[in-house]
Amino acid sequence: MVHADASNFSSSLSKAEAYAQLLSSLTSLVQDQRNWVANTANAASLLWHMYHSLPAPSSSVNWSGFYVLDPSDPGKQLILGPFMGKVACQTIRIGKGVCGAAAEGEGRTVLVKDVEEFPGHIACDSDSRSEIVVPLRSSGKVVGVIDIDCADVQGFDQEDQKGLEAIAELLGKSCDW
Ligand code: SME
Repeated sequence: MVHADASNFSSSLSKAEAYAQLLSSLTSLVQDQRNWVANTANAASLLWHMYHSLPAPSSSVNWSGFYVLDPSDPGKQLILGPFMGKVACQTIRIGKGVCGAAAEGEGRTVLVKDVEEFPGHIACDSDSRSEIVVPLRSSGKVVGVIDIDCADVQGFDQEDQKGLEAIAELLGKSCDW
């Protein structure tokens, strides 16, 4: 398989079909690679191209990427990982912002329909109007998060949550963190 082709998503796919194609491509990409940087970098690319193949609001995604536990301050801070989009905050304290809330404790998905209604939202890109953050777990422990921002309000729904949680599960178990 020519892996670069994995970034091509037909505009005729439904969102569920697009997530299924992404999961299948990523499964194949991570098969012989356990390095988390390589795998999350390719996942950020796949997510970006997938959202931009879909109708609005998905096509208004303006940031897709990862924050991981910062090894220099274990358990207390996230640090920027691979992403697509504008330059972003380098570190986020656990418990702060949407990412820090999703990474706290056992981790939970946080779906924010309107960032103005989420107290403590950290505005890395002033274009962002909605956001979804999904924890990544390895052996039951949170190791990082997937973070997706959208320039439209209500950019994400339960289908996005389901699709991203499946991606998080795959990455959690298929990388060395
Ligand atoms: N909005 C995030 C910060 C990261 S950026 O969106 C890339 C937050 O509140 O944690």
